[in-house]
Amino acid sequence: MSDTVYLNGEYLPLADAKVSVLDRGFLFGDGVYEVIPVYAGRLFRFEDHVVRLNNSLSGIRLDLIKSAAEWQAIFQPMLDSSKDQYIYLQITRGYAPKRDHGFPEPIVPTVFAMCSDIKPFAGRVSGVKAVTLDDTRWQMCHIKATALLAHLLLRQEALDQDCAEAILVKNGYVTEGAASNLFVVIDDELITPSKSNEILPGITRDVILELAKTNQIPYREDVIALEALENASEIWVTSSTREIVPVIELDGKMVGIGKPGPVYQKMDQVFQAYKQSLA
Ligand code: PDD
Repeated sequence: MSDTVYLNGEYLPLADAKVSVLDRGFLFGDGVYEVIPVYAGRLFRFEDHVVRLNNSLSGIRLDLIKSAAEWQAIFQPMLDSSKDQYIYLQITRGYAPKRDHGFPEPIVPTVFAMCSDIKPFAGRVSGVKAVTLDDTRWQMCHIKATALLAHLLLRQEALDQDCAEAILVKNGYVTEGAASNLFVVIDDELITPSKSNEILPGITRDVILELAKTNQIPYREDVIALEALENASEIWVTSSTREIVPVIELDGKMVGIGKPGPVYQKMDQVFQAYKQSLA
């Protein structure tokens, strides 16, 4: 991680960046965040991340609008174009003089950003094991909220079962991963759940759908029943920091041929080429 972080208008060594224990982010998880990959110093799909951030902010009724150029100017001093990095940005409803569920008046948001190196995720190449778990999260999963307790418990349950990710099930349908979106390949068609309040609208997900279109890979956005996973020749989970990760074992059973499949191989190749073309 770069030692310099951004906090409320200042650049500071990480160890000196402090917020009040009365900050609503600390007390209530009252905030939103973004994770933005930066390849060779260029913010990946930056406009899309800013749109999602603004949707998250309006989703929690927090008024803080900055243009993409203003955010870029904040992040720029922390970037190192010799590496692949990611920006973590968190905005909370700020300090309030007392702990009260109702919003304080006035609201002075806390804005924090740090930049870390992207460590290649080994499972992206080898494939990972996953487990299905009940989606115990709230009904506003389209908001990238910092209150992640349900996600953390689900991911940890997966880790405890020697799996890399939990695939979440709601009313008999799969929604997404604990920290990723979900794709399956059934009868050579790529399928991912449609956008709704039940999933985070992943930026990686959008890129994959665009690349499927331009590369003539048949795809569809649709509901995916839990039982349909048994017929999937491939299952992937996708996110900004891990990219496209093939699931080769689900609930102890082999997925497809038990190795990253051909549609994954193709998509990973075009995804890497797309990243290069933007970097
Ligand atoms: N998480 N769904 C959930 C619940 C997520 O937490 C994430 C990413 C995604 C994928 O979104 P994107 O492609 O925009 O990264 C989907 C990030 C990486 C995190 O919490 O660290």
